[in-house]
Amino acid sequence: MPHIVPSARDRASASSEASTRSIWIEAFKAVRAETERRAAPLSPEDQNVQSMPDASPTKWHRAHTTWFFETFLLKAHAADYREFDPRFGFLFNSYYVAAGPRYSRPERGMITRPDAAEVAAYRAHVDTAVERLMQNADTAMLGKIVPIVEIGLHHEQQHQELMFTDILHAFAQNPTNPVCDPSWRMPVFGRGSDYVRIPPGIRSIGFEGEGFCFDNEQPAHQVLLREAVIARHLVTNGEWLEFIADGGYRAHDLWLSDGWAKVEAEGWQAPGYWREIEGRWFSLTLAGLKPVDPHAPVLQVSYYEADAFARWSGKHLPTEAEWEVAARAGLLADAFGVAWQWTRSAYLPYPGYRAAEGALGEYNGKFMINQMVLRGSSLATPEGHARASYRNFFHPPARWQFSGVRLLDYR
Ligand SMILES: [Fe+2]
Repeated sequence: MPHIVPSARDRASASSEASTRSIWIEAFKAVRAETERRAAPLSPEDQNVQSMPDASPTKWHRAHTTWFFETFLLKAHAADYREFDPRFGFLFNSYYVAAGPRYSRPERGMITRPDAAEVAAYRAHVDTAVERLMQNADTAMLGKIVPIVEIGLHHEQQHQELMFTDILHAFAQNPTNPVCDPSWRMPVFGRGSDYVRIPPGIRSIGFEGEGFCFDNEQPAHQVLLREAVIARHLVTNGEWLEFIADGGYRAHDLWLSDGWAKVEAEGWQAPGYWREIEGRWFSLTLAGLKPVDPHAPVLQVSYYEADAFARWSGKHLPTEAEWEVAARAGLLADAFGVAWQWTRSAYLPYPGYRAAEGALGEYNGKFMINQMVLRGSSLATPEGHARASYRNFFHPPARWQFSGVRLLDYR
């Protein structure tokens, strides 16, 4: 897929200002095009729906990622920029308090105007202005704007994943089981039940070196790991079927108290999009309703379910440090590209972490409470977006992401 933000190697090889400029213009075009590719199969009605407060309309994702470049890049650095519509800042700011007031998140689906075509025009207007800014920037200006373009592209890639997970949640509310993409296939995944030893002792985690990372991946620091073994492979649907058959969703003693409250309140009996039809399990995928493949990794489970499953298995979820050390050592199959993996680590600042000054300092730091870390990446993550130090985070009941489970044991 051609939508990769430049790597450290690309940047190192950009020997001239002209090549730096062209690398970033091409990256900008490729990432912006990928957003539109993901939205293209969806009708204007699809693009407006919001199926729950946590899930945003496709049209909103397309507009909000555009607002990000308009606000943090163009308004800040393009002297001749003409704002597309002064009302859009209120509509499409997500959570940046420093960037001004914003529309209520749970009601984004109420915004039928601007319609999908106007949002396309907004995107085109901003694309033209960003490309022109980069084209005309002198060396000093390039030095200022490239870091903003870079975070804007990584930000847009995060929303590309959410476009898939959010529309799938909307489609899961529709009894006709709509199809996002008939050609979608589950990615290739490994199989096996072996456990591998994680090197114990004092280890390093967090991002170091050249290239992009989010601020929450730093500072790199040392951790102390005890002897442990980690599953090479992800927990499968077949194993989840055993958990269900063994009464996993009915045994309160397997569950955290908050998790059991969710099981009772929401009637959970299986992963998010599973449906039992005439004694057989099906799951709503991006390609529509498909039989549950017992060999495939389980998807759409919450932290509470992952934790209960681990307890039922007599094992544990890894901490994020255990996961990262194992991933860096090359011990994990399907670390990336299939399912985010819940860890039992709370999403907290690394030792010495400080959020940046200004509006972009709101990107990660203020969410470091009441959420759990997931590691790896999923089948919906744009290629090249994640890395071993990447920290995703969601609230423990969330199960509309492509989130799965990898087990660990202490011996
Ligand atoms: Fe955002």
